[in-house]
Amino acid sequence: MKIWRWVFVGLVCTAFILRIDAVELGRRHPTERISGSAGDVLEDDPVGRLKVFVYELPSKYNKKILQKDQRCLTHMFAAEIFMHRFLLSSPVRTLNPEEADWFYTPVYTTCDLTPNGLPLPFKSPRMMRSAIQLISSNWPYWNRTEGADHFFVVPHDFGACFHYQEEKAIERGNLPLLQRATLVQTFGQRNHVCLKEGSITIPPYAPPQKMQAHLIPEKTPRSIFVYFRGLFYDVGNDPEGGYYARGARAAVWENFKDNPLFDISTEHPTTYYEDMQRAVFCLCPLGWAPWSPRLVEAVIFGCIPVIIADDIVLPFADAIPWEEIGVFIDEKDVPNLDTILTAIPTEVILRKQRLLANPSMKQAMLFPQPAQPGDAFHQVLNGLARKLPHDKSVYLKTGQKILNWTAGPVGDLKPW
Ligand SMILES: *[C@@H]1O[C@H](CO)[C@@H](O)[C@H](O)[C@H]1NC(C)=O
Ligand SMILES: *[C@@H]1O[C@H](CO)[C@@H](O)[C@H](O)[C@H]1NC(C)=O
Repeated sequence: MKIWRWVFVGLVCTAFILRIDAVELGRRHPTERISGSAGDVLEDDPVGRLKVFVYELPSKYNKKILQKDQRCLTHMFAAEIFMHRFLLSSPVRTLNPEEADWFYTPVYTTCDLTPNGLPLPFKSPRMMRSAIQLISSNWPYWNRTEGADHFFVVPHDFGACFHYQEEKAIERGNLPLLQRATLVQTFGQRNHVCLKEGSITIPPYAPPQKMQAHLIPEKTPRSIFVYFRGLFYDVGNDPEGGYYARGARAAVWENFKDNPLFDISTEHPTTYYEDMQRAVFCLCPLGWAPWSPRLVEAVIFGCIPVIIADDIVLPFADAIPWEEIGVFIDEKDVPNLDTILTAIPTEVILRKQRLLANPSMKQAMLFPQPAQPGDAFHQVLNGLARKLPHDKSVYLKTGQKILNWTAGPVGDLKPW
């Protein structure tokens, strides 16, 4: 049985340290990365290269909302809260707005949850608008650039489009007031109205301590070839099927449900995290959005992410060598997944596993408390620092106005 070959792969992978010729690798696997040695996270220290001013807002925009529902600290959009806390005590923070390179407005737009814990984004546009109105009338900095030197964390499914259904999100488009701002967002899909150009794509939040608690000995053999837990169909929201995940998840199930190399199911076992550490490949197909926390989990647990999401923009893609650590499958090629994955040479698998074992790769995927060098917070700062200095054209002439404060759906204009 083929599967024993993979058990063997798993056994030897931890013992091996492959020597890789960085130049050779770079030539064979060209990536969009800026620099850094092949297979490593781009090393970059943001401290001293940028200064961030944090607006002080009434607590109804942030802390009060969290007090109402503590679940906002653990769901996949929690980065907006942790980013705020991080910046308050970060060495890049300046209390003098005159010397700031970037301005940050701490608004928690994804913390309004249903009883089931799903974030409702319906009030977010009004809330964001209200916050921008407030900073623009109380400080002179917004009007100077109409937000071009401001950044906002908008980790919801479709970022600043503020809707969880793609069609509606596209129809809404990004909030007009954020037209000139930089967005720090989870949503990453090329050529999509909800991915604003120049955005910094971040990983979804996955709780570091919880994952840590499920670590199993590193030498445990990887006896599962392909692993996946999650929905294949979303009957509730997509009764006819085929629309959810653009049919890619349904194709995984239909083609491989009886294939012994595939350990796939809708049931989330209590050993989910442990199982990922026993798997060679972890499927990361799109759902309603191209990303899911599986990507972070796969990296943390050293399981090679098999990314099935055409045109996905991965988190910190300019710093992390995704092409080297993951496997990319076109959505149309899902029926050939078994052939594609079994054809990957053992040494390629070993190399990907070795790269995944690099602690800096894992660090970049997490928002730990307290923050640590190279973590996702620092990657965001690196992204902001790389956009400096601002182009002179961001500063508007006196009286010059670009934004239209009454644009967008009328419902969004109601006071918050
Ligand atoms: C910024 O511009 C708006 C109108 O566009 C004005 O109401 C506001 O007072 C201005 N802010 C400051 C601080 O001057
Ligand atoms: C601003 O947007 C509103 C709503 O779309 C539109 O009616 C109005 O003409 C726009 N104003 C300007 C100055 O473009």
